[in-house]
Amino acid sequence: MSVGAYPATRLRRNRFDEATRRLVAEHRLSVDDLIWPIFVIEGEGLVTEVASMPGVQRVSLDRLEAHVAPAVALGIRAIALFPVTPPDIRDAEGSEARNPDNLMCRAARILKRAFPDTLLVGDVALDPYTDHGHDGVIRNDYVHNDDSLDVLVAQALNQARAGIDILAPSDMMDGRIGAIRTSLDAEGLIDTRLMSYAAKYASAFYGPFRDALGSGGLLKGDKKTYQMDPANTDEALREVAMDLAEGADMVMVKPGLPYLDVIRRVHERFGVPTFAYQVSGEYAMIMAAAGQGWIDRDRAAMESLLAFKRAGAAGILTYFAPLAARLLREGG
Ligand code: PBG
Repeated sequence: MSVGAYPATRLRRNRFDEATRRLVAEHRLSVDDLIWPIFVIEGEGLVTEVASMPGVQRVSLDRLEAHVAPAVALGIRAIALFPVTPPDIRDAEGSEARNPDNLMCRAARILKRAFPDTLLVGDVALDPYTDHGHDGVIRNDYVHNDDSLDVLVAQALNQARAGIDILAPSDMMDGRIGAIRTSLDAEGLIDTRLMSYAAKYASAFYGPFRDALGSGGLLKGDKKTYQMDPANTDEALREVAMDLAEGADMVMVKPGLPYLDVIRRVHERFGVPTFAYQVSGEYAMIMAAAGQGWIDRDRAAMESLLAFKRAGAAGILTYFAPLAARLLREGG
């Protein structure tokens, strides 16, 4: 065979063995990139399964430390807290968000005491507290932007005082980052970080989460007047620009895998720490297919997490965090 018959370049050489593949790898997932979302409930001695999220539990506060300890031992440094508020405490105004001793704040205090070096991320939005399941208050059948800000600010201050390190407003009201930042500053809480859910889409992939929180059945209508239209990306850049101008330290794109293009654009345009939320429905899809034996759970989970890094994400909120931390430790 003449020399010219061979490929001049052989890209396969760099894939020849494991060591070479690792040597040339462009992106790598680390345990430092993981934020683990957890659900807390009232009561005692409770660890309940979320039916649509196999392997995900809601835990009562007396079980919280034991629930989190193995993940911390695996190196997870950030935990996002979500409270399941009993229906009788919910009301139209989300008043329980104003209670400095609500479930979320009590959970934060417990975790901060038990794991002082673990970052606590607090979701700021009213849906765990409203009896209509919306993220803000309703006036004339419409989620009212400016009236919602007042209670969101109170909620944010409560969380910061309870030990939440990173406030993560997920409500998508206009101006909430500025309102929260101004109030934090006025209280001297100048180091509380703000990770805004800047580009949060009105998505079908939140279904299992609403199931976990018990807010799914309550939700009247949809969230399309405040969460973004999946058709848009330019608008995501405007959302991010606005939140950064108002004082966000980090931004998030949510959901994750269906929106990798948005992560890429946000990261390239702004060069700020950009996070992805691999949401409940994404987790459920992988777990459901794996449960049927149709895909390999561990490989699919790790590949999906690496995809976020490739798109430019600084980190990922994912229900796979403990699994991924374990696989990383095992050298996967
Ligand atoms: C609430 C909130 C939601 C999620 C995180 N914060 C649900 C919603 O907007 O309806 C979804 C997370 C997930 O699906 O894993 N503001």
